[in-house]
Amino acid sequence: MMNFSVKSVCCIGAGFVGGPTMTVMADKCPKIIFNVVDINEKRIASWNNEDLSQLPIYEPGLKELVSKTRNKNLFFSTNVKECISSADIIFISVNTPTKQKGLGAGKSSDLKWVEACAREVSQYAKGYTIVVEKSTLPVRTAEVIQRILKTSRSNYLDENKSFSVLSNPEFLAEGTAINDLQYPDRILIGGDNEKAMIALSQIYRNWIPEEKILFTNIWSSELSKLTSNAFLAQRISSINSISAICEVTGADIREVSRAIGQDTRIGKKFLDSGPGFGGSCFKKDILNLVYLAEHFGLKEVAKFWESVVDINIWHQNRITKIVVSKLFGTVANKKIAVLGFAFKANTNDTRESAAINICKDLIEEGANLVIHDPRVLPSQIENDLQQKPYNEIDNSKRNELNHLNGQWRFNRNLDLFDDVHAVLILTEWDNYRNINWIDISKKMVHPAWVFDARSIVDPAEIKKAGLNIWRLGDGSEEKVVNF
Ligand code: NAD
Ligand code: UGA
Repeated sequence: MMNFSVKSVCCIGAGFVGGPTMTVMADKCPKIIFNVVDINEKRIASWNNEDLSQLPIYEPGLKELVSKTRNKNLFFSTNVKECISSADIIFISVNTPTKQKGLGAGKSSDLKWVEACAREVSQYAKGYTIVVEKSTLPVRTAEVIQRILKTSRSNYLDENKSFSVLSNPEFLAEGTAINDLQYPDRILIGGDNEKAMIALSQIYRNWIPEEKILFTNIWSSELSKLTSNAFLAQRISSINSISAICEVTGADIREVSRAIGQDTRIGKKFLDSGPGFGGSCFKKDILNLVYLAEHFGLKEVAKFWESVVDINIWHQNRITKIVVSKLFGTVANKKIAVLGFAFKANTNDTRESAAINICKDLIEEGANLVIHDPRVLPSQIENDLQQKPYNEIDNSKRNELNHLNGQWRFNRNLDLFDDVHAVLILTEWDNYRNINWIDISKKMVHPAWVFDARSIVDPAEIKKAGLNIWRLGDGSEEKVVNF
């Protein structure tokens, strides 16, 4: 069979997946041109910003690779039409959030952005084009894309235009995206056209060993991506549910994780109990699986997977309740320092971050929060909390508030501990590991608490500083310390 030689690639969607994925590909395949296009002009302008600290996404190692490849064989633009026309392979890497209204609302994926891409590809592509699903999609979406590509009027008339649709889901995790892309556990290519599958695999063969490239039918590939995320999220819900049992029985979740993780059948990874899984995908992908199961009448299957999401929400609420109860049953007018707002360390992404619900609930209870995160912008936090920070409420409106209960403000530096009753650690950023608790204790209102939802502080140091400590999943007896 003749090999199809790829000279130009277009990626539609310059987000957390499209941007880093194409950057790594451009670095590994210097002879291929990579065009990343997006309808969001602001995002594209940030990708093209001379100042690499202004890239729209923070990922360790990303800016170094962008600086090496950008405007050489990697281009970011809004020029969707031209880039589609010149591409041999098109990656669809657009957002597929949970549908907000209409049929399947709250569970199924909203595919309007994918459909729009398929229509654009159908209109502007030239000759033979391989269309790759990079976005995470419900099983059998490829059928929809194929139908749009085949039946659009312009394609009936143009005999030279033809398409193959492949599924090539992305498994990168944010915060480690570059490493995940450079050294993936596997590359999954689903399809039924051998020529197209080989052409796509040739791109990956520039840096990935052959045995790591798996070929499946297209539906297995689509379903494997949803299943992978569902299994990972299920592990976190499982360990978080056990953390609650630890707290009431005197066990310690870190010891339990270590003990079960030593079993090679279970494995060590993804057993860290935390404030509940966040991120843009776990919840939406499980709900997508739930919708699929319901659609096919598999009620019990749907119920099983839905419980993974339910317990995650319960767990986040549980943390808020613990904070309130330890602070004598009320946080009204109490200042609480919140360390970390991103859904995990090493990213500026806050989508579905546990911090959003926990902070909203504490504000609702009347707490005054001072929030720190090394990468998340205050404007993002404002957007997530749907409330202006206290220091930006104008004076006239401030006077209307007869008390300061239920406010928040952002603190750029780690000097936010004056007069706080408690410190709540929600993201495992490295710089929270080396805090001098003795100094901080002197600034706090006593009896003062440290709530560690990420197991990153040493309880002995906290106690030595005269502070009370609550650690997630730690059942050892606490004693309130008065300083
Ligand atoms: P994102 O929201 O960060 O980026 C998507 C981009 O697509 C946006 O910039 C949007 O403007 C653009 N877009 C939408 N419609 C367009 C169109 N018609 N033409 C051009 N651009 C368009 O999303 P993301 O986090 O990059 O996720 C993309 C997909 O990858 C989702 O399906 C997600 O489930 C999947 N995924 C995400 C991750 C992750 O870590 N974020 C990992 C693996 C898979
Ligand atoms: C996850 C998957 O790990 C990726 O393989 C997948 O490609 C991606 O979703 C996706 O499809 O979007 P991501 O959400 O970026 O990646 O990050 P994870 O490292 O999986 O963390 C997700 C959430 O689980 C975070 O809130 C994290 O703090 C939490 N987590 C993770 C724990 O609470 N404990 C753990 O042991 C691991």
